[in-house]
Parts: sequence; structure tokens; C-alpha cells
Amino acid sequence: MGVIHALHVQELARETQDCELAALADLNVDRAREVAAQIGSDAPVFASVDELASAGVCDATVVVTPTGDHRANAAALIRAGHRVLLEKPLTGALEPDREFAAELDRDHPHALMLAFQRRFDPPLQYAKELMESGAIGRVFKIYSSLEDSNPAPDGYKSGGILPDMSVHNVDEVLWLTGRMPRAALTIGSRIYSHRITTCVEDFDDALLYLWFEDEMVAQIQVSRNHVSGYRVESIIFGEEGQIHVGHFDQKLFDITVEAYGRRGRTEPLALRTFPMRRYGRPLPEFIDRFGAAYKSELAAFIECCRSGSPFPTTHRDGVRAQEVISAGMQAVIGPEQARLVQSA
Ligand SMILES: NC(=O)c1ccc[n+]([C@@H]2O[C@H](COP(=O)([O-])OP(=O)(O)OC[C@H]3O[C@@H](n4cnc5c(N)ncnc54)[C@H](O)[C@@H]3O)[C@@H](O)[C@H]2O)c1
Repeated sequence: MGVIHALHVQELARETQDCELAALADLNVDRAREVAAQIGSDAPVFASVDELASAGVCDATVVVTPTGDHRANAAALIRAGHRVLLEKPLTGALEPDREFAAELDRDHPHALMLAFQRRFDPPLQYAKELMESGAIGRVFKIYSSLEDSNPAPDGYKSGGILPDMSVHNVDEVLWLTGRMPRAALTIGSRIYSHRITTCVEDFDDALLYLWFEDEMVAQIQVSRNHVSGYRVESIIFGEEGQIHVGHFDQKLFDITVEAYGRRGRTEPLALRTFPMRRYGRPLPEFIDRFGAAYKSELAAFIECCRSGSPFPTTHRDGVRAQEVISAGMQAVIGPEQARLVQSA
């Protein structure tokens, strides 16, 4: 993921002259050099976050290290005076999230932006606009799915499929509704891809069900088993219709937002298509879908750094999403907890 952020910084530097890719850092220095060469950068390369922090070469950093290192890496850079765009999740677990957030609130309340790219995704922003304009009336259900075509790679460290994957969907639901749920339940299974990776994860397929006040629910579906390709879909259900956001038909590079009215209407309430960017190089599958969102998230980060403004998403959003996930992880139903089927 760091490769795509570096590419986008380099592009924004060329397009806007508002920023400069000042350095890259990776424990694997050769890999960082390779990336610099690929994106046409002659910025210096450092072998650790600490080296970067003490080099004094920049004011802001994007931290894209493994989740277990997020807190230590982000804190070291913030102590060195950087503002930090930290990849999701904040720390991947509730207690360290809360401790880190309290530390930031006390000492550096405006130093960290948490990377929740869906908030910068044009199709989802349009769906939110439609929803807020009342196009489908009162919203009572949101379905949000994220399904990878592969397991997490060999050696990838995951604290569970919910903190690793569903954190995107949970933040999407909290952002769309502006509300926190009151209860959560998870149904989890291991059905296929856990067998073809050395990454150890609780489930490779899970459903997180959320209940809100006033008769509203959210259903979040995450999976590492959608072998025919990355699947990201959201459906917002209201009393007067639905809004669908996704990648339908076989148009590989189109995202469609369609709002349908009640049964009997012959025309959609709204219909727009958003082209996906074609990077023309082999990159992980989520980059095609969210490329524009990652770049616009980064542009927002840089703009806040330049103007000294607070960030649009912070550690607090990370804690809220994790509070929901932690509740769900304490109420898990697998086949052992479910009722046995009695056949005659
Ligand atoms: N927003 C998204 O859609 C999205 C997508 C993928 C990954 N991510 C997040 O990005 C983070 C990284 O994921 P990834 O898939 O790129 O992992 P990765 O393992 O492919 O890459 C991590 C890189 O960090 C380097 N590294 C590790 N510790 C370091 C340190 N202390 N100093 C410098 N470099 C260090 C590693 O050498 C490696 O090159 C994770 O937290 C993940 O949740 C977010």
C-alpha cells in the first residue's frame, strides 16, 4: 500500500507543486529504492522510521507499516513534529486504540489523520448526497460488503478479519449515518482461503450485524473468498427506495450509483457512472476501485498540513470504528454456538 501512496505524492507534487516527496523509508531499503526508481523519484531512502524522524527532511509522513507497528511508528514521527496520515486501522485493538487516542488528545490533538479512503470516494460521496437529500426517505438498513479474491498474503499479520477488513465498512456506515450502533453480533466462518496462506486469521468470511436506535440495522459482509475478483458493494435501503453503489455487470472499470424508487416506477431516481482509474501497472486489486479516493484523501491531508487545519478524519474515528468491531468480536456465532439441525 505504501507504493501507491508514494506514487500519488509524486503525482500531486508534479500536478500542484504544493508538496514534495521528501523521502521514503522501509526496513527493506532495496525495496524502497526500487519503488523510488519506479516512480521517478530521487528522494533519499531511510532504513527505519526512527532514521526518518531524526533526519529532519519533511513536515508530514504517510505511515503504511504493518498494523502492529502503527502506534509506535506514528508516535515517533509525531514526537519529531510531523503530521501523520496513518493507514487504517488505528492500532487494530480497542485498549491500545483508546490509550493512543488519549495520548494524542492530551499532547497532539491535531497531529493524526486516519486513512479511511471511502469518505473520499466519489461514488460513495454521491450516494451520501442522495441519501441526505431524502431521495429514498428514512433509511432503515445499510448493507456494505468488501470481498477480496485472495487471502491475506503469506506472512501478513492480521488481528482478525473484522479489524483488518470490516473497519472500512464500519467507518462507511458511521460516516453515512452519523450514528453509532447500540449492539453488534458477528457470524464467522473459515470456508476456503485460510487453507492457502500462512497468514493466520480468525475467519476468512464474516458477517457483522449492527443494530441502531429507531429501527435501523447495518449488515457488513467481509470475505477473502470472492475468487472471481474484488467485490465492493453498498446498498442503502429506505422507505421510498434503495441506493446501490457498486461494480455491476461486467464493466470492469465502471462504478455505478443507482437510486430506485418504490415498486412500479419505471425510471431510476438517479443514475451516475464513475470511471475507475486505469493505472496500467500490476497493483493490488483494491487500487483500481479506490485509486481516486486514495489520491483525494492524500490531497486533503496535504491541504490540511499546508493550511494548518484540523484533519477531516482522526484517531477518534478509528476508536469509534474499533468500538463497534470489538463489541461484534465479543458476540461471535460459529457452528458451535448455532442450533443443531435435527433431521428425521
Ligand atoms: N486503506 C486500504 O485500503 C489499505 C489497503 C492495504 C493495506 N492497508 C494498510 O496498510 C498497512 C500496510 O499494509 P501492506 O499490505 O502494505 O503491508 P506490507 O507488509 O505489504 O508492507 C509493509 C511495509 O512496511 C515495511 N516496514 C515494516 N516495519 C517498518 C518500520 N518500522 N519502518 C519502516 N518500514 C517498515 C515492510 O518492510 C513492508 O515493506 C496495514 O496497516 C494495512 O491495514 C490499507
